[in-house]
Amino acid sequence: LRPGPVLGLESSCDETAAAVLAPDGQILAEAVLSQADHATYGGVVPEIAARAHLAHLPGLVGQVMRQAGLGFDGLAGIAASSGPGLIGGLIVGSGVGKGIALARGLPFVAVNHLEAHALTARLPGLVLGGAPFPYLLLLLSGGHCQCIAVEGVGRHVRLGSTIDDAVGEAFDKVAKMIGLGWPGGPAVERLAAQGDPTRFAFPRPLRGRPGCDFSFSGLKTAVAQVVAAYPPGPLPAQDAADIAAGFQAAVVDVMADRAARAIELFRARQPEGRLMVVGGGVAANTALRTALERVAAARGFGFAAPPLRLCGGNAVMVAWVGIERLRLGLTDALDHAPRPRWPL
Ligand code: KG4
Repeated sequence: LRPGPVLGLESSCDETAAAVLAPDGQILAEAVLSQADHATYGGVVPEIAARAHLAHLPGLVGQVMRQAGLGFDGLAGIAASSGPGLIGGLIVGSGVGKGIALARGLPFVAVNHLEAHALTARLPGLVLGGAPFPYLLLLLSGGHCQCIAVEGVGRHVRLGSTIDDAVGEAFDKVAKMIGLGWPGGPAVERLAAQGDPTRFAFPRPLRGRPGCDFSFSGLKTAVAQVVAAYPPGPLPAQDAADIAAGFQAAVVDVMADRAARAIELFRARQPEGRLMVVGGGVAANTALRTALERVAAARGFGFAAPPLRLCGGNAVMVAWVGIERLRLGLTDALDHAPRPRWPL
C-alpha cells in the first residue's frame, strides 16, 4: 500500500463530515455539517438524517478535496464510518466512500466509529507525538458509555459499560424534563452554571461498587420525580437551574468514582499504562473533564481530552483510523456491510 493522505467520511448519526489527513496526522482539510432539523423533533430522526447525509456528503467531499489541493488519485485510501450507528446514514457514507474507492482503484477501510473515538488520542497534535499504546479510554457519548483498555489498532478490551442508559442520553432526557432544547448536554451544562448543586440530593448510582460499570436510569427517575412535583408548564427558572446543577453534580461524582475504578482495572491489565483519555460528545463537558483530570492526576496518570470539535461526530478521527489501518495493511472489501451494532 502506498503512503499518502486519506479521505475520511462520517455519517453514523446527525453529523455529516469529511476530512483529509496526511499520513503523519496533519489535518489537510475538514468540514462538519451538524444537521439542525432534528431539534424540531427533540432528537435525531433516522430517515431525515440519512436523506440529509445523501444531500450533503458529496458536496463536503468536493469541498475538502479542493481545500486539501488534491484529486482522488492523490489519495492513499478512503475510510468511512461503517458502524455502529444509524443504518441509513452508514449506508450513505460507506456507499459514497466505496464508490470513490471503486472508481479510482483505492483501498477502502470500513471504520468502527468507536475505534475512531479510541484512536483520536493518537493524533500527533493531541498528546505530544500521539498517545502510545496502551491507554485507558472513557467513551462518553449519546449512544455509548464505556471504559476501554486501548491496547493496539483493533485491540480494545472493554472494562465496563453502562447497564442501562448512556450518559449523553441521560443529559438529553433530563434536558427535556426541565424544558431545555436538544441536544440537551450543552444546554444542561450552561444552565447548571447558574444553579445550586446541593439543593437537590440526587442519587449516585453504582458509586463505590466494584468494577467500572455505569447506571443512569435511577438518577434520571429521581430527576423526573422532582419535576413531577411541580404544576404542569415551565419550571421556575432558578428551580430548573438547581435541578440541572444537582443532576450534573451527580453525574460528575459517579464518573469520578467509576474512572478511579477503571484506572485500577486498567493497571491490573497494563502495569505500564499511564494515560487516561476521554472521547465522545459528553467529553465536551467542562465540569466532567476537570473532575476526571483530577482523578487521573491523583493516580499518577496523564489525562488527554480532544479539542471540543473532535469530541463529537467528526471525520478527522475516521480518516486517522484509515491511516493507522492502512499502515498495517488492513483494508476491507467493497462488499463490507455497514453494521448498526458493532461492539469493539
Ligand atoms: O458523540 P456524540 O456527538 O454522538 C452521539 O453518540 O450521539 O455525543 C452526543 C451527546 C449528546 O447526548 C449530547 O447531549 C452530549 O453528547 N453532549 C454533552 C455536552 N455536549 C454534548 N453532554 C454534557 N455536556 C456537554 N457539554
